[in-house]
Amino acid sequence: MEVERVQVLAFGGMKELPAQFIRPDHEQPENSKAVEGMTVPVISLSQPHDMVVKEIFKASSDWGFFLITDHGISPTLIQRLKRVGQELYELPQEEKEAYANDPSNGKFEGYGTKITKNLDQKVEWVDYYFHLMAPPFKVNHDFWPKNPPAYREITEEYSKEILRVTDKLLKLASEGLGLEGKVLRSSLGGEEIELEMKINMYSPCPQPHLALGVEPHTDMSALTILVPNDVPGLQVWKDDNWVAVNYLQNALFVHVGDQLEVLSNGKYKSVLHRSLVNKERTRMSWAVFCVPPHEAVIGPLPQLLDDQNPARYSTKTYAEYRHRKFNKLPQ
Ligand code: SIN
Ligand code: FE2
Repeated sequence: MEVERVQVLAFGGMKELPAQFIRPDHEQPENSKAVEGMTVPVISLSQPHDMVVKEIFKASSDWGFFLITDHGISPTLIQRLKRVGQELYELPQEEKEAYANDPSNGKFEGYGTKITKNLDQKVEWVDYYFHLMAPPFKVNHDFWPKNPPAYREITEEYSKEILRVTDKLLKLASEGLGLEGKVLRSSLGGEEIELEMKINMYSPCPQPHLALGVEPHTDMSALTILVPNDVPGLQVWKDDNWVAVNYLQNALFVHVGDQLEVLSNGKYKSVLHRSLVNKERTRMSWAVFCVPPHEAVIGPLPQLLDDQNPARYSTKTYAEYRHRKFNKLPQ
């Protein structure tokens, strides 16, 4: 099936936004501006261990979102990752189409554009490239782009680094809950934890004040670790306001996702977030979703429950959670 790509539309010289991209009034960025003077937490991993545990606990409970610095991933690797992602979108259109995905038939990996309209019959101003990155035995490289040629090597290196960082964050987040460091990681499948890469491409938009790059949502992952290019656009929801997230070079943007909220019985918050688009500049972001395997059974950790703290979430497989989220069914 022929899918109309946002990138193709955007560079076709269109002046007015087609109707399916125009958000309802209350959602338009102009009518839901970010609050001034608030900034998201930034946490350096090079502080003393107890401080890092405390800060991650606080940011995950108050915001469900924070930036980390001093995470040990080299700036050069981040730069190279961004370069190959950018080069991927610069390939001729037919080369990208050879990787077109087909979510309605369960084929999620590859080049995609969300075409299913939401309840308001609207779509988002974004194209993406999505593929599994870890564990190695589950990865099918046929879904990875062959070009640029360095894509595979750089992405494999980045995957190893992100795995190291997610292990560390899960350990710190476990300790913040007063649990042994290994608890969250093993509840999420241990060695079987999956990493998924999604490269978001937000082409310049003729009327950015009417559109959204990504509509408000929480991630169904346990954690999402994102690096954007230097074009701002990400906003997170905090105390009834949108808060704009400023670009910070080489920082990792960490989102707490639904699975951590469930495991922690609500101590950690899955952050509501959205992204805006830009009139002149292309925004890009590289999101890595850290998710349990489909068969993992996820529910509030029994260690956190007692008479005063009953379970606030039901227990189910990740596959079931995903199915319900995709189909907007109650959890
Ligand atoms: C997303 O949440 O799906 C994308 C966020 C971003 O591009 O910053
Ligand atoms: Fe997201």
